[in-house]
Amino acid sequence: MSQTDNHTAMDTDTLLRRFRAKFGRPSEDTDAERVFHAPGRVNLIGDHTDYTGGLVFPCGIDRGSHLVIRRNATGRFRFASTNFELMGDLHRDEIDRKWGDTWINYPLGVIDQFRRRGIEAEGVDCLFSGDIPNGAGLSSSASIEVVTAVGLNALLDAGLDNLELVRLAQQAEHDFVGMQCGIMDQFAVAMAEADHAILLDCHSLEYRQVPLQLEDHALVVINTNQRRELNESAYNERVAECARALDLLAPHTGISRLGELTPEALDTHKACFAHDAVAFSRARHVATENERVQNAVPALEAGNLIEFGRLMNASHDSLASDYGVSSVPLDTLVSAARATDSVLGARLTGAGFGGCTVNLVAQDALAHFERSVGLRYREATGLTADFYRVSPGAGARVVEID
Ligand code: GLA
Repeated sequence: MSQTDNHTAMDTDTLLRRFRAKFGRPSEDTDAERVFHAPGRVNLIGDHTDYTGGLVFPCGIDRGSHLVIRRNATGRFRFASTNFELMGDLHRDEIDRKWGDTWINYPLGVIDQFRRRGIEAEGVDCLFSGDIPNGAGLSSSASIEVVTAVGLNALLDAGLDNLELVRLAQQAEHDFVGMQCGIMDQFAVAMAEADHAILLDCHSLEYRQVPLQLEDHALVVINTNQRRELNESAYNERVAECARALDLLAPHTGISRLGELTPEALDTHKACFAHDAVAFSRARHVATENERVQNAVPALEAGNLIEFGRLMNASHDSLASDYGVSSVPLDTLVSAARATDSVLGARLTGAGFGGCTVNLVAQDALAHFERSVGLRYREATGLTADFYRVSPGAGARVVEID
């Protein structure tokens, strides 16, 4: 897929101009354009726990996707993006199936979910524009799904509540993209609040907005810029391994989801895994990661950033050794970060298999940190890392047009 303009946020006027250049000016057959935004997210701790009904702790970021959307009276669904050259132009009868292996499946999947709920759009024109690097573990896809869901909900007066939109966007990913993801990304992107992170129980969906007070530290996201391959199949394999671990444990422990497992219970029942060492390691990651989230949030609230950083480090090590989702570039970035004396914690974030790390770095050493990590990384891998200083951004919303 050829990409353009991937990292620049555009203002609303520019977006409207671009929209009209592609789809024409409003006429008596069209509504007025509306504009929506959804952020990306960075997960601070608690990875590969959501689909086991465990705990996660993500925050929205100040990068995301804009959507300019307008109803048309032609019965066609047209999709354009400032990030991809590929456009989609589909008739109403064609929107119930995947459109190749392209980004268009994200909005299409969402439109399909509305349809399954009996909410039909006659035809829409959509222009997307994002400044999240794609496929880098910052939820560019959930951001597109959620912005589409929020936009359609408003445009069609569908009246679905936020949680319904979150579930619908997750289902779109399952059905149209084929990734059996948990609910964290869509939830974070929809529900984020500025300056907060969300402690979410992915089973009960109870959540709490926790003020993200990092004092003299900042969040730095670093992109490996490693090409990600086999992402969906390797991810789905982990989901299946967790299901296997649960099958082995359930008859002996009475747990109904792996997210309930404690490290102590796993230790007591390790004999269940006599013939499945892989399932044992996956279960150990899930059990210890949930415990880390449980400890990390109070540590943060008590202003103990050293402990929070220590738990971030332990999370990465567990994702790498027990869960097998790190990569040489990710491990290299993490050790280059830890080799500086300005980082409290460094870990991969999101699904892994490439993508980004998240780092808790002393404010007054940011420039030195980035230089030093960038250099070490290039020397070791031949790749150039990108650095994003992110701040916790608000969730999906309407953008007023002046
Ligand atoms: C991806 C998925 C999420 C979650 C993370 C790993 O981002 O979409 O549901 O499983 O990986 O924590």
